Amino acid sequence: MEGKDPLLSVRNLTVRINTPQGEIIPVSELSFDVHPGEILAIVGESGSGKTLSGLSLLGLTPKDSHIRGEILLRGTPVQNLTETQWNTIRGARIGLVFQEPQSALNPILTIGTQIEEILTSHPGCVQVANQTTFIRSLLERVGLQNPDRIAKSYPHQLSGGMRQRVMIAMATALDPELLILDEPTTALDVTMATQILSLLIEENRRRKTSMILISHDLSVVKNCASRILVMYAGRIIEKCDRSRFFTEGPDHPYSQALLRSRPEGGEYTRKNGPLEAIGGQVPPLWDLPPGCAFAPRCPRADEKCRTTVPPWKPHSPVSDREPARTPTAEGSLCFYPGIRTQ
Ligand SMILES: Nc1ncnc2c1ncn2[C@@H]1O[C@H](COP(=O)(O)OP(=O)(O)OP(=O)(O)O)[C@@H](O)[C@H]1O
Ligand SMILES: [Mg+2]
Repeated sequence: MEGKDPLLSVRNLTVRINTPQGEIIPVSELSFDVHPGEILAIVGESGSGKTLSGLSLLGLTPKDSHIRGEILLRGTPVQNLTETQWNTIRGARIGLVFQEPQSALNPILTIGTQIEEILTSHPGCVQVANQTTFIRSLLERVGLQNPDRIAKSYPHQLSGGMRQRVMIAMATALDPELLILDEPTTALDVTMATQILSLLIEENRRRKTSMILISHDLSVVKNCASRILVMYAGRIIEKCDRSRFFTEGPDHPYSQALLRSRPEGGEYTRKNGPLEAIGGQVPPLWDLPPGCAFAPRCPRADEKCRTTVPPWKPHSPVSDREPARTPTAEGSLCFYPGIRTQ
């Protein structure tokens, strides 16, 4: 991967939304790269901004929102594209598996028609000799038996796991170079989840495509990802290699707590003691504490953490791929001295 230009570069991506409670910043100053062939995981508790970050990368931000920062796809800025321009990228160059397949599928069209629409809206994107055979093979590839029946079905006639697999089939139909998978296995049983993940990893290796895997399931992340971004209250609080994350452990107290709350192979992580829940809750975005957003729950927080964001002092040299981040006045970033970037 070294020396190759990133497929996707995100710089200081910030999303502001006007809500009845006031303006919130659910995605704040996100900066990261995704390299060709890489599987990058984004983890974090519910509400940390994972889905919104993924949607922003495809220009799918909510109404009443304002986006700032840069999204570069193979070096070309895409953050200010028109809807028509975005539509040439969505599905064709970046595929998305939505967290909630039920709401992403059109309820009044059969699955087959929805796949046909993808093909007709991106003519020439993939060579298809026979549409029926193509749709059948797509559905078979994600482990759906009786693909002809599935193609004739409406979304409500399928189970949650079937819909999730249909979404994966649709997102990969045009062979996009980047696939964003938002909790792709939550509706699947363990066997099917393993099969689907194996399929995606196989495709990733064969076609050298990249993936952003959004998941709160660290077991899934451990099996797939090469790098991990940990999000908290809309910010990336740590970037870590997969091997380091799961062997030496991450540096940030929040990432460490997340890891300790992971059941391992059906048993608790005995090495680190019993399974731990992280006390307290993610603070509401309209009422973030003045210092570090994790400070109220952090066993290592001191008075300083509660009032100011500690200065950024990288443990090892910052990657030259990404600019060094500096704490911002509005920030809640827990970059205490000694934390490692990579
Ligand atoms: N359209 C919207 N309007 C207002 N707030 C929103 C909107 N979409 C998301 N949010 C808020 O942004 C924050 C991040 O939401 P997001 O869906 O990205 O979280 P998540 O990390 O994906 O959580 P989960 O693990 O539960 O899927 C949440 O506080 C959510 O309430
Ligand atoms: Mg989500």
